Amino acid sequence: MKKDLALYNKLKEDIARHDYLYHVLDKPQISDYEYDQLITSLHELEQKHPEWDRSNSPTQRVGGTPLELFVKVPHRLPMLSLQNSYSPDDIFEFDQRVKKFLRDGKDVEYFCELKFDGLALELIYQEGRLVQAITRGDGFVGEDVTQNIKTIRSIPLSFSAKKIPSLIEIRGEVLIFKKDFAELNATQQENGQITFANPRNAAAGTVRQLDSRIAAQRPLRFFAYAVGAVEGQAFSTQLEMEKYFNELGVPTALDLTKICLGPQQVVDFYYDIEKRRSNLPFDIDGVVIKVNSLRLQEDLGLVARSPRWATAAKFKPEQAQSVVEKINIQVGRTGALTPVAIMKPVRVGGVTVTNATLHNQEEIERKDVREGDTIIVQRAGDVIPEIVSVVLEKRPKDSKPFSMPSHCPTCHSKVHKVEGEVITRCLNPFCDSVIKESLKHFVSRRAMNIEKVGDRLIETLVDQGLVKRFSDLYRLESDSLLQLERQGEKSVENILSSINGSRQTTLARLIHALGIRFVGEQTAKHLAEHFLTIERLAKATTEDLLNVPEIGPKVALSIQTWFANPKLAKEVEELQKLGVKIAGPQRSTSGVLSGVSFLITGTLPVKRDEAKDLIEKNGGKILSSVSSKLNYLVVGDDPGSKLDKAQSLGVKIIDWSDLQKLINDQT
Ligand code: IVH
Repeated sequence: MKKDLALYNKLKEDIARHDYLYHVLDKPQISDYEYDQLITSLHELEQKHPEWDRSNSPTQRVGGTPLELFVKVPHRLPMLSLQNSYSPDDIFEFDQRVKKFLRDGKDVEYFCELKFDGLALELIYQEGRLVQAITRGDGFVGEDVTQNIKTIRSIPLSFSAKKIPSLIEIRGEVLIFKKDFAELNATQQENGQITFANPRNAAAGTVRQLDSRIAAQRPLRFFAYAVGAVEGQAFSTQLEMEKYFNELGVPTALDLTKICLGPQQVVDFYYDIEKRRSNLPFDIDGVVIKVNSLRLQEDLGLVARSPRWATAAKFKPEQAQSVVEKINIQVGRTGALTPVAIMKPVRVGGVTVTNATLHNQEEIERKDVREGDTIIVQRAGDVIPEIVSVVLEKRPKDSKPFSMPSHCPTCHSKVHKVEGEVITRCLNPFCDSVIKESLKHFVSRRAMNIEKVGDRLIETLVDQGLVKRFSDLYRLESDSLLQLERQGEKSVENILSSINGSRQTTLARLIHALGIRFVGEQTAKHLAEHFLTIERLAKATTEDLLNVPEIGPKVALSIQTWFANPKLAKEVEELQKLGVKIAGPQRSTSGVLSGVSFLITGTLPVKRDEAKDLIEKNGGKILSSVSSKLNYLVVGDDPGSKLDKAQSLGVKIIDWSDLQKLINDQT
């Protein structure tokens, strides 16, 4: 028992060290396989000894029971704010004020660093253990978000340094990298869930997520830059403090900081960082300039709620003014209603923008964007246009607040918003917009692959009442198609033969094409392999569904709800009556990759679909998320957070040429 405990503690320490080497220093010292072994041993020990305190165990990184609400916690020392300035001239003024106050003519030594555009957070370590993580809140009282913060793998759960302070409150910023943000929004969209306006909102929304298991799946990062209360440790400069954070294993962006003597060097730093801004992996909105000596910081003290020893020099964001001509409501495939601002075309950061999503009712209320408003628009995370704010002085007198319609703009059925959720939905599966979007998905290349039926044709077919459901596509005849504008004999022939070609399909393609919420291409493949026929899938019980890889209760419920709708279920019969032949899974179990699972991240030298097909043709399986069951992660350029996760789970990492070797060496 004693031996077990010693081993347990040693394992936790080793894992923490390897997490640091990997997540903070980017210099792993052991193979992924060896890391995996450590985690497995730790799990085994915890299972054997449920009585042990596992509050700082790496096994806590996956999240726990959802909370009812966050507990409010006062900060021991208030979390201050910085005075902002927008021009390098202000840096000279700041320096003048500092010098005047210190009554010393000498150049002041400044510690210059990035102004991270995330969410401020305080980590409280007592006797070297992370005991609490609190948001900034109003600076005096924040919220206890410990459960979520423990899922951030670069934040140590305990320190392994030799000398540990009895108390240290480390302050810093939680954020999401731009690349991870793009990946996250794409997944959210695919699943019919809310998308985020920018990486900061995504980070803030995740930190304030009551279900820490969701937070565990989101790629949060942390950078430290200040302290609150400290007992048992002293520093003399800001630089020393941040170096000390690193010694404790807490990440900083030290390599993007600089010691500057006098204001001119600070201004040079400001311009240098501004130039590099778009190439940084995360959003920043300026630089922060701090007097390096902590003794001088103390002498300088505070003005109101801001330190006199620091200032923020913000960058001008790439913004422009425009006018919201209209707020349109788009109805998506899952029935989600998305308000979209249609603006007078305007150039922002070298691109002309006309549309900006307003996401949902809450976002609109928060920004109070109205039709006719003059607004400031910028490109979030360098890509998506985002309305930042309204120029209230220019608001037309007769303007009215925008509110989401109570009825679907397309089919006029009453819309629904689940209590506590932000998405408003049209629940009518036969709404024209839902039908159009569903049909676009149905015919898409990875679904039924009806190449000649494009988005425009679908719009027309639905508007003309020729197609109301999937099966109607197979009822189309040349006479009715020839009546449509811009359709001649040849194009109609092409359309019909393209539709005809799709009659020979596979079960996986058909399941994917049906557009069941949360059932993407990979899940469809798993379902096809498991159930073999569509009839068996339609009759599957929750228990049956939960036995399929990667299917949880949410997906299971969505599948059952779909097949429980008699009109939808009948469609599957109709399709078959109209000659759609569904071939069961033809997995090549004899392929060289048989039984081996893969996941792709980043940009490969070939199209992603091509790579997937190659893997599957050789008997391999594609998974849709990283888990310890994954055998290989195939990594291309600019991989996302999947790479981090795979490495921490000990999944083998290969690139495109390794994959080709894997196949060719064995064939
Ligand atoms: S120092 C007394 N350093 O800016 C100053 N803050 O206006 C304590 N921030 O809420 C903060 N990057 O969210 C500091 N390198 C940095 C920062 C930084 C971003 C944010 C932080 C804080 C706000 C203060």
